[in-house]
Amino acid sequence: MKATEIVKVDPNSPDIDEIKRAAAIIKAGGLVAFPTETVYGLGADGLKADTVDKIFLAKGRPQDNPLILHVASPDDILRVATEVSPIVDKLVQLFWPGPLTLVLPKQSHVPDKVSAGLPTIGVRMPDNIIALTLIAESGTLLAAPSANLSGRPSPTLASHVADDMWGKVDLILDGGPTRLGVESTVLDLMEDPPRILRPGSVTREELEDVLGHVEAQILKDERPFLRQVRPGGKYPHYTLDIPFFLVEGEPQAVIRRIQEEAGKYRSQAKKVGVMCSEESKGQYLGCADVIRSLGSRHDMTQIAAGLYRTLRDFETCNVHVLFAEGFSERGLGFAVMNRLREAARSRIIYAC
Ligand code: TXA
Ligand code: MG
Repeated sequence: MKATEIVKVDPNSPDIDEIKRAAAIIKAGGLVAFPTETVYGLGADGLKADTVDKIFLAKGRPQDNPLILHVASPDDILRVATEVSPIVDKLVQLFWPGPLTLVLPKQSHVPDKVSAGLPTIGVRMPDNIIALTLIAESGTLLAAPSANLSGRPSPTLASHVADDMWGKVDLILDGGPTRLGVESTVLDLMEDPPRILRPGSVTREELEDVLGHVEAQILKDERPFLRQVRPGGKYPHYTLDIPFFLVEGEPQAVIRRIQEEAGKYRSQAKKVGVMCSEESKGQYLGCADVIRSLGSRHDMTQIAAGLYRTLRDFETCNVHVLFAEGFSERGLGFAVMNRLREAARSRIIYAC
């Protein structure tokens, strides 16, 4: 068990002494959890195999699930990737710093541990001053997966990190709630056309404006190669300790179906939770025990920002079962639906 410390840091003007202290921990081979614009990351020196090992151990993460390297400047790509094409330059100009991870050919000095033995490396420059200052002060690149126990929803608050990682991490930098709430878009540039391995806040539509056609993730792809590299493709993600059902379809059909299903559970004296849009929350009064709105179904940024926090909150509500409404897959909705489907796995109901 490590002695874990948590310190509050102003997300707009971080105290440089606190960041320097965190950087010293990284340089000494320790683990520091820090906020990014997407979710909290669990950072270690990404260029040393033994420190990277500590990340896998702390998270209980399978060794064949590669990590993203976080950089403080676009020039840092040249330290880890063998090739930077004009397309990469363009994507970096448009989307960095920001929630876009680029999968590029890896330089051989980058430990194989980071890429889980793949010949490629995922790289991203986060849009968060605390993260960027920490990387720069550490003088290295930070390998950083989401700072949750493997398989759990990603942390969007420092308290989520503390819940999962207390005693396993040296320091948690608490920079408040993360702005976007879902992890970065992972774009594989080794394929032609490029392929989205994980959708995120940089949307397929935005990428297609730059790249032309982009392959999007196929949820139940059985090709072994994609199973290894696609997040969630091999191991369960976003698992909760309560049965979780996702109900997809037209909003009115979804509402009716959740009302029906909730009625069945309640007739067996089971407590029912519903996670829904602001527009429909009134429809579940009287047929669910705990109702949480994620926000308007017309504002996916709000829905994404509150998604993981709300999922984690339901675990403390003592409900026996949780139903979630599905959303449109347009734009950021694609990322939100990807996470909801991963969480529900085989418990997806199509309402008609
Ligand atoms: O927003 C984010 O990306 C957050 C913050 C902390 O930066 N990080 C994050 O890391 O979500 P993680 O490890 O939880 O998810 C990264 C996913 C991995 O599951 C992996 O499948 C994929 O990115 N990935 C990383 N390197 C890859 C590579 N070389 N090829 C294919 N996929 C890769
Ligand atoms: Mg993760």
